[in-house]
Amino acid sequence: MLLVTGGAGYIGTHVVRALGGAGHDVVVVDDLSDGHPELLPDGIPVEVGTVLDTDFMMDVLDMYRVDCVVHLAGRKAVDESITRPSFYYRQNVLGMQSVLAAMVRLDVRRIVFSSSAAVYGAVADDTAAEDAPTAPRSPYGRTKLICEWLLRDIAAVEGISWSALRYFNVAGAGGRDLADHGVHNLVPRVFQAIDLGEEPTVFGDTYDTPDGTCIRDYIHVSDLAAAHATVVDAVAAVPMSAIYNVGCGRGASVLDVMRAAREASGVPFQWRIAEPRPGDPARVVADTHLIRDELGWTAVHDLGDIVGSAWEAWSAARGGTGAELSVGAR
Ligand code: WQD
Repeated sequence: MLLVTGGAGYIGTHVVRALGGAGHDVVVVDDLSDGHPELLPDGIPVEVGTVLDTDFMMDVLDMYRVDCVVHLAGRKAVDESITRPSFYYRQNVLGMQSVLAAMVRLDVRRIVFSSSAAVYGAVADDTAAEDAPTAPRSPYGRTKLICEWLLRDIAAVEGISWSALRYFNVAGAGGRDLADHGVHNLVPRVFQAIDLGEEPTVFGDTYDTPDGTCIRDYIHVSDLAAAHATVVDAVAAVPMSAIYNVGCGRGASVLDVMRAAREASGVPFQWRIAEPRPGDPARVVADTHLIRDELGWTAVHDLGDIVGSAWEAWSAARGGTGAELSVGAR
């Protein structure tokens, strides 16, 4: 039985569906702070509570005879982490410590952890490999790096097989019912602006990149979910201690995303150029050779799939059928 913490969230619902599709039995723990349990497949039990409650976690591990944890629960908004660092360290770092303590007490010896490309900060080379220097620029990124250290040190003495997956920029939707409702990241923020009839904001166009805007590695949430199914099997097969980048390995600029959103929505919107956002690296793109060579996983969706699927789900979530609705909303 797999336990997915945060399994009712945007990424969690995709991961739970992928694990179920791969034949795994799954139970979800979620505090429902921004989860949507109604989006989970029928028959998936949801235990409502916080990973910070170690006794609760032990009860769930015991009740469902869990043999592997997929730990996604945590806060992930960079800007919020800057204004609420204590909350982020508590939720992300103490949450990880609590999950590991429960696992050790119940002799659960396998875990896959949701880490982040935010641990890298700026990337000196064309792409970031897993052995690249880590210099996170936000409390969010620092909590993810500390969680990796916790995991590595505790797993070493407790004989836990583990993998940490460094997510790059996750977007898209695996179905019209699976929109990213959290308007923190670029793609949903562009859609929100379209709906409001406003010009989306480009944070800076003077970076040392081909079009002057920041470059990121956008990965479809369905590809990310498939990576979890692959890694869950790997940590069960052999004692593992591995960190993997999970991205598509290709960069796309903010303007590339804007143009993809015009194409997906059918709305010929303009955008406005604002000052660069403090702390934004010019380029963060994954070197994905390790997960490909060791586990045979690669992303299959491109930027058009990502933004197109995201728009379909975004439109469905507000009852629209697509571009005509957004024009009407202007
Ligand atoms: C992307 C680019 C902005 C909004 C995320 C988080 C986290 C991590 C991936 C998992 C940047 C620009 C944004 C807008 C813009 N994944 N932008 N206008 O900053 O790469 O960070 O990385 O943990 O989700 O750490 O993601 O979506 O905020 O920004 O121009 O309205 O889009 O400057 O270059 P980011 P983002």
